[in-house]
Amino acid sequence: MIDPRPMLLSIRNVKKSYTTAEGRLEILRGIDFDLDAGESVALTGESGSGKSTLLHLAAGLDHADGGEIVSSGHALADLDDKGRAEYRRTSVGLVFQQFNLIPSLDVGANISFHAKLAGRYDPRWEQELVTLLGIKMLLSRYPEQLSGGQQQRVAIGRTLAAKPPLVLADEPTGNLDEATGDAVLALMLSLTKSAGAALLLVTHSSRLAAALDRRVHLRGGKVV
Ligand SMILES: Nc1ncnc2c1ncn2[C@@H]1O[C@H](COP(=O)(O)OP(=O)(O)O)[C@@H](O)[C@H]1O
Ligand SMILES: [Mg+2]
Repeated sequence: MIDPRPMLLSIRNVKKSYTTAEGRLEILRGIDFDLDAGESVALTGESGSGKSTLLHLAAGLDHADGGEIVSSGHALADLDDKGRAEYRRTSVGLVFQQFNLIPSLDVGANISFHAKLAGRYDPRWEQELVTLLGIKMLLSRYPEQLSGGQQQRVAIGRTLAAKPPLVLADEPTGNLDEATGDAVLALMLSLTKSAGAALLLVTHSSRLAAALDRRVHLRGGKVV
Protein backbone atom coordinates (compact mmCIF):
# COMPACT_ATOMS: atom_id res chain seq x y z
CA MET A 1 0.00 0.00 0.00
CA ILE A 2 1.22 3.49 -0.76
CA ASP A 3 1.83 5.61 2.32
CA PRO A 4 -0.90 8.29 2.20
CA ARG A 5 1.43 10.84 3.78
CA PRO A 6 5.01 10.14 2.70
CA MET A 7 7.84 11.75 4.64
CA LEU A 8 9.21 14.96 3.21
CA LEU A 9 12.79 13.80 3.74
CA SER A 10 13.76 10.20 4.28
CA ILE A 11 17.35 9.21 5.02
CA ARG A 12 18.05 5.46 5.04
CA ASN A 13 21.37 3.80 5.91
CA VAL A 14 23.34 6.68 4.42
CA LYS A 15 27.10 6.22 4.33
CA LYS A 16 29.87 8.58 3.41
CA SER A 17 33.63 8.31 3.69
CA TYR A 18 36.50 10.48 2.52
CA THR A 19 39.89 9.32 1.33
CA THR A 20 42.63 11.42 2.86
CA ALA A 21 46.42 11.22 3.17
CA GLU A 22 45.90 9.32 6.45
CA GLY A 23 43.63 6.79 4.75
CA ARG A 24 39.90 6.29 4.57
CA LEU A 25 37.78 8.31 6.98
CA GLU A 26 34.33 6.82 7.57
CA ILE A 27 32.24 9.83 8.52
CA LEU A 28 28.65 8.61 8.17
CA ARG A 29 28.24 4.89 8.93
CA GLY A 30 24.56 4.30 8.29
CA ILE A 31 22.38 7.29 9.10
CA ASP A 32 18.62 6.88 9.41
CA PHE A 33 15.99 9.48 10.09
CA ASP A 34 12.90 11.11 8.62
CA LEU A 35 11.62 14.63 8.50
CA ASP A 36 7.91 15.28 8.20
CA ALA A 37 6.50 18.19 6.19
CA GLY A 38 6.69 21.37 8.26
CA GLU A 39 8.72 19.73 11.02
CA SER A 40 11.80 21.41 12.53
CA VAL A 41 14.73 19.25 13.61
CA ALA A 42 18.02 20.27 15.20
CA LEU A 43 21.03 18.32 13.94
CA THR A 44 23.65 18.29 16.71
CA GLY A 45 26.97 16.56 17.32
CA GLU A 46 30.57 17.40 18.07
CA SER A 47 32.70 19.25 15.59
CA GLY A 48 33.74 16.77 12.87
CA SER A 49 30.81 14.39 13.52
CA GLY A 50 29.54 14.80 9.96
CA LYS A 51 26.71 17.33 10.31
CA SER A 52 27.78 19.45 7.34
CA THR A 53 28.52 16.33 5.31
CA LEU A 54 24.96 15.08 5.88
CA LEU A 55 23.48 18.47 5.01
CA HIS A 56 25.47 18.60 1.77
CA LEU A 57 24.16 15.15 0.84
CA ALA A 58 20.56 16.19 1.55
CA ALA A 59 21.11 19.34 -0.51
CA GLY A 60 22.25 17.28 -3.49
CA LEU A 61 25.65 18.99 -3.39
CA ASP A 62 27.52 15.71 -2.93
CA HIS A 63 26.86 11.98 -3.42
CA ALA A 64 26.43 9.42 -0.65
CA ASP A 65 28.49 6.21 -0.92
CA GLY A 66 25.52 4.09 0.04
CA GLY A 67 21.98 4.20 1.34
CA GLU A 68 19.11 6.29 0.10
CA ILE A 69 17.96 9.89 0.46
CA VAL A 70 14.47 10.74 -0.77
CA SER A 71 13.49 14.41 -0.58
CA SER A 72 10.18 15.81 -1.86
CA GLY A 73 9.76 12.58 -3.81
CA HIS A 74 13.20 12.77 -5.47
CA ALA A 75 15.52 9.80 -4.90
CA LEU A 76 18.72 11.83 -4.97
CA ALA A 77 20.98 8.93 -6.03
CA ASP A 78 18.93 8.51 -9.21
CA LEU A 79 19.25 12.13 -10.35
CA ASP A 80 21.72 13.17 -13.03
CA ASP A 81 23.43 16.59 -12.87
CA LYS A 82 20.46 18.28 -14.49
CA GLY A 83 18.05 16.60 -12.08
CA ARG A 84 20.17 17.65 -9.11
CA ALA A 85 20.24 21.25 -10.33
CA GLU A 86 16.46 21.19 -10.70
CA TYR A 87 16.10 19.64 -7.23
CA ARG A 88 18.26 22.37 -5.68
CA ARG A 89 16.37 25.10 -7.53
CA THR A 90 12.86 23.96 -6.60
CA SER A 91 12.85 21.65 -3.60
CA VAL A 92 15.39 22.87 -1.11
CA GLY A 93 16.52 26.16 0.42
CA LEU A 94 19.97 26.60 1.92
CA VAL A 95 21.14 28.97 4.64
CA PHE A 96 24.82 28.75 5.47
CA GLN A 97 27.14 30.64 7.78
CA GLN A 98 28.52 32.43 4.75
CA PHE A 99 25.65 34.51 3.52
CA ASN A 100 26.26 33.79 -0.19
CA LEU A 101 24.45 36.89 -1.44
CA ILE A 102 25.11 38.00 -5.02
CA PRO A 103 27.32 41.12 -4.68
CA SER A 104 26.23 42.71 -7.96
CA LEU A 105 22.52 42.62 -7.08
CA ASP A 106 20.79 44.87 -4.58
CA VAL A 107 18.93 43.37 -1.63
CA GLY A 108 15.54 43.38 -3.38
CA ALA A 109 16.96 41.60 -6.44
CA ASN A 110 18.86 39.12 -4.26
CA ILE A 111 15.58 38.18 -2.59
CA SER A 112 13.50 37.79 -5.77
CA PHE A 113 16.22 36.07 -7.80
CA HIS A 114 15.88 32.57 -6.30
CA ALA A 115 12.09 32.78 -6.12
CA LYS A 116 12.03 33.58 -9.84
CA LEU A 117 14.45 30.74 -10.62
CA ALA A 118 12.25 28.38 -8.63
CA GLY A 119 9.18 29.60 -10.54
CA ARG A 120 7.57 30.73 -7.29
CA TYR A 121 7.92 34.51 -7.37
CA ASP A 122 5.17 35.90 -5.14
CA PRO A 123 5.46 39.66 -4.52
CA ARG A 124 2.98 39.58 -1.63
CA TRP A 125 4.85 36.89 0.26
CA GLU A 126 8.09 38.77 -0.44
CA GLN A 127 6.60 41.98 0.98
CA GLU A 128 5.52 40.12 4.09
CA LEU A 129 8.95 38.56 4.49
CA VAL A 130 10.89 41.80 4.17
CA THR A 131 8.55 43.49 6.63
CA LEU A 132 8.85 40.71 9.21
CA LEU A 133 12.63 40.49 8.73
CA GLY A 134 12.91 44.27 9.23
CA ILE A 135 14.84 44.78 5.98
CA LYS A 136 12.36 46.88 4.03
CA MET A 137 14.56 49.98 4.22
CA LEU A 138 17.54 47.99 2.92
CA LEU A 139 16.04 46.84 -0.39
CA SER A 140 18.07 49.14 -2.62
CA ARG A 141 21.37 48.60 -0.79
CA TYR A 142 24.07 46.18 -1.92
CA PRO A 143 25.28 43.28 0.26
CA GLU A 144 28.61 45.01 1.03
CA GLN A 145 26.66 47.89 2.58
CA LEU A 146 25.06 45.65 5.22
CA SER A 147 26.13 44.36 8.64
CA GLY A 148 26.52 40.62 9.19
CA GLY A 149 23.15 40.37 10.93
CA GLN A 150 21.46 42.30 8.12
CA GLN A 151 23.10 40.10 5.48
CA GLN A 152 21.89 36.98 7.23
CA ARG A 153 18.34 38.38 7.40
CA VAL A 154 18.51 38.99 3.66
CA ALA A 155 19.87 35.48 3.10
CA ILE A 156 16.95 34.03 5.08
CA GLY A 157 14.49 36.18 3.10
CA ARG A 158 16.12 35.07 -0.14
CA THR A 159 15.75 31.40 0.83
CA LEU A 160 12.17 31.61 2.12
CA ALA A 161 10.95 33.82 -0.74
CA ALA A 162 11.22 30.75 -2.98
CA LYS A 163 8.91 28.79 -0.61
CA PRO A 164 11.04 25.64 -0.52
CA PRO A 165 9.43 22.62 1.16
CA LEU A 166 12.71 21.98 2.98
CA VAL A 167 15.21 24.44 4.47
CA LEU A 168 18.70 23.18 5.30
CA ALA A 169 20.59 25.54 7.58
CA ASP A 170 24.22 24.95 8.62
CA GLU A 171 25.07 26.96 11.75
CA PRO A 172 23.40 29.95 10.10
CA THR A 173 24.09 32.33 12.95
CA GLY A 174 27.62 31.12 13.68
CA ASN A 175 29.17 34.31 12.32
CA LEU A 176 26.96 36.64 14.36
CA ASP A 177 27.27 37.80 17.95
CA GLU A 178 25.00 35.91 20.34
CA ALA A 179 22.24 38.52 20.72
CA THR A 180 22.04 39.17 16.95
CA GLY A 181 22.26 35.44 16.23
CA ASP A 182 19.43 34.61 18.63
CA ALA A 183 17.18 37.29 17.13
CA VAL A 184 17.90 36.17 13.56
CA LEU A 185 17.34 32.53 14.48
CA ALA A 186 14.03 33.24 16.21
CA LEU A 187 12.89 35.02 13.05
CA MET A 188 14.06 32.15 10.89
CA LEU A 189 12.13 29.63 13.00
CA SER A 190 8.88 31.57 12.95
CA LEU A 191 9.11 32.41 9.23
CA THR A 192 9.96 28.82 8.30
CA LYS A 193 6.80 27.77 10.18
CA SER A 194 4.73 30.46 8.39
CA ALA A 195 6.10 29.24 5.07
CA GLY A 196 5.08 25.68 6.00
CA ALA A 197 8.63 24.53 5.29
CA ALA A 198 10.45 21.79 7.15
CA LEU A 199 13.74 22.78 8.73
CA LEU A 200 16.91 20.82 9.36
CA LEU A 201 19.15 23.09 11.40
CA VAL A 202 22.74 22.32 12.35
CA THR A 203 23.59 23.97 15.62
CA HIS A 204 26.13 23.57 18.43
CA SER A 205 23.75 25.10 20.91
CA SER A 206 21.54 22.89 23.10
CA ARG A 207 19.53 25.97 23.94
CA LEU A 208 18.71 26.60 20.27
CA ALA A 209 18.11 22.89 19.66
CA ALA A 210 15.50 22.92 22.42
CA ALA A 211 13.45 25.50 20.50
CA LEU A 212 12.85 23.03 17.63
CA ASP A 213 10.37 20.15 17.39
CA ARG A 214 12.98 17.41 17.71
CA ARG A 215 16.69 16.76 17.91
CA VAL A 216 18.87 14.30 15.97
CA HIS A 217 22.33 13.77 17.45
CA LEU A 218 25.30 12.34 15.50
CA ARG A 219 28.05 10.38 17.19
CA GLY A 220 30.51 7.90 15.71
CA GLY A 221 28.87 8.18 12.32
CA LYS A 222 25.42 7.16 13.60
CA VAL A 223 22.30 8.82 14.96
CA VAL A 224 22.29 8.26 18.73
N1 LIG B 1 36.10 16.89 1.34
C1 LIG B 1 36.62 16.29 2.42
N2 LIG B 1 37.73 15.52 2.34
C2 LIG B 1 38.23 14.90 3.41
N3 LIG B 1 37.71 14.97 4.65
C3 LIG B 1 36.61 15.73 4.80
C4 LIG B 1 36.01 16.43 3.72
N4 LIG B 1 34.92 17.09 4.18
C5 LIG B 1 34.86 16.81 5.51
N5 LIG B 1 35.86 16.01 5.89
C6 LIG B 1 36.08 15.46 7.23
O1 LIG B 1 34.89 14.80 7.61
C7 LIG B 1 34.64 15.00 8.99
C8 LIG B 1 33.25 15.56 9.17
O2 LIG B 1 33.20 16.88 8.67
P1 LIG B 1 31.90 17.79 8.76
O3 LIG B 1 30.78 17.08 8.12
O4 LIG B 1 32.28 19.11 8.23
O5 LIG B 1 31.65 17.83 10.34
P2 LIG B 1 30.78 18.83 11.22
O6 LIG B 1 29.98 19.70 10.30
O7 LIG B 1 29.93 17.95 12.09
O8 LIG B 1 31.74 19.62 12.05
C9 LIG B 1 35.75 15.90 9.52
O9 LIG B 1 36.71 15.09 10.11
C10 LIG B 1 36.27 16.55 8.26
O10 LIG B 1 37.62 16.86 8.41
MG1 LIG C 1 29.95 21.73 9.98
